[in-house]
Amino acid sequence: MPGTCVIGLQWGDEAKGKIVDLLAGRHDIVVRYQGGANAGHTVVTQGETYKLSLIPSGIFRREVQCVVAGGVVLNPATLIEEINGLSARGVPVAENLIISDRAHVIFPWHFEEDRLLNELCTSGEAIGTTMRGIGPCYRDKVGRSFAIRLGDMYRDNFQNRIEQIVRAKSQILAGLGGSAMPLDADEIFETYREYAQRLKPHVADTTAYLLDAVDADRSILFEGAQGALLDVDHGTFPFVTSSNSSGVGVASGSGVAGRFVTKVIGILKAYATRVGGGPFPTEQDNDVGQHIRDRGNEYGTVTKRPRRCGWFDAVAARYTARLSGVDVLAIMLLDVPSLLPELQICTAYEIDGQRTTDFPSHVDDLRRAVPVYEIMPGWREEITHIRRIEDLPTGAKDYLDRISELVGRPIEVVSVGPDREQTMFAPS
Ligand code: GDP
Ligand code: IMO
Ligand code: MG
Repeated sequence: MPGTCVIGLQWGDEAKGKIVDLLAGRHDIVVRYQGGANAGHTVVTQGETYKLSLIPSGIFRREVQCVVAGGVVLNPATLIEEINGLSARGVPVAENLIISDRAHVIFPWHFEEDRLLNELCTSGEAIGTTMRGIGPCYRDKVGRSFAIRLGDMYRDNFQNRIEQIVRAKSQILAGLGGSAMPLDADEIFETYREYAQRLKPHVADTTAYLLDAVDADRSILFEGAQGALLDVDHGTFPFVTSSNSSGVGVASGSGVAGRFVTKVIGILKAYATRVGGGPFPTEQDNDVGQHIRDRGNEYGTVTKRPRRCGWFDAVAARYTARLSGVDVLAIMLLDVPSLLPELQICTAYEIDGQRTTDFPSHVDDLRRAVPVYEIMPGWREEITHIRRIEDLPTGAKDYLDRISELVGRPIEVVSVGPDREQTMFAPS
């Protein structure tokens, strides 16, 4: 079975949605398997721009089956809004979307916890979460006692479970200094019962579905959310999200064993961005950063926050490419750094006077890392109209070659604009 997976190798927003949409046509099934509505994946097709949070970016291909697998944390209101929004724009969702009955559900108390706990990060700096209840929902999943999965919402004891959890959560929230708005078990039950009815036609055992698909040799495309540097185990902890957003999360989130993923595509921006708190060694809080932010429209898809921008960090990208088992790279938004007189690539860090190309495991060491830069000449022309890699200006080709060399993987895709057509594939 040809299983391909698309993984962001930075701090998210690498334009995974665009690549998944492009590749979806060559697959039978597209799967979201971790994260939740903290993700904002953009697809531009036929002059229309779509922002997806929970629905896989394969939804624009009628022949493709889209799957939201059990590793995703689900905000039913967002999902219903997304389904309705797509249907209203003529994108049919009814037939080709299934959602795992194992997916954990986000409830009002999760939003409140997200708000109260975000500021309490151990390192003194706020994580700057998307406030979508993601961390609190994953915490309850691992803690088990207060967790509700989508499948639980169709059981007779659903109302009892809500009442029990509301009692406990009210005390917990009061202890954390909340909640201005008391939780009303009856109201929450009624609202979520309606959500459950609306989603019922889509709910399925997606693990079984995907295992059958593997047996039937159908081709599956796995759509990672966030980026590998936000991975809860291997990223810049604690400034991370709460799921395994690097390549290591595909199997646990989907139920499909890693050995069936035969190709991993690592997605990289031609520079670096980060939303929220945490160290970012190559950040350019200056005119260069602003140039990138303006040209790349670097404002959060979900929260509209201005993204922090900086130079390409090859130390981090080499680490995440290895961590995620990447085979080939897609370099996105190469048009954004055009017009700069020169570009810089971080090739090593100096930490307390010691030079290293290893990515530090502790956030305090990363905070002290001083980037060692290699300077490359820029290309002072627009490239958004170019359709073949060999037609790119020499400066851009040299820049790509150097990234490939430093990251240690070949480049298969280059993107010079948001449209499907603004994509170039390396000759195979
Ligand atoms: P994702 O979360 O990884 O899917 O990425 P986002 O959708 O959050 O952010 C990527 C943004 O870049 C979106 O607005 C895309 O439409 C846009 N985009 C994708 N590829 C390119 C490109 O090559 N050039 C430019 N200028 N924009 C791009
Ligand atoms: P996509 O899939 C960029 C960041 C948040 C915050 C941290 C934790 O569009 O690339 P969370 O709400 O997950 O607890 O926030 O993770 N973050 C993202 N940054 N792109 C994303 O998704 C992100 N999802 C979460 O900004 O720093
Ligand atoms: Mg995004």
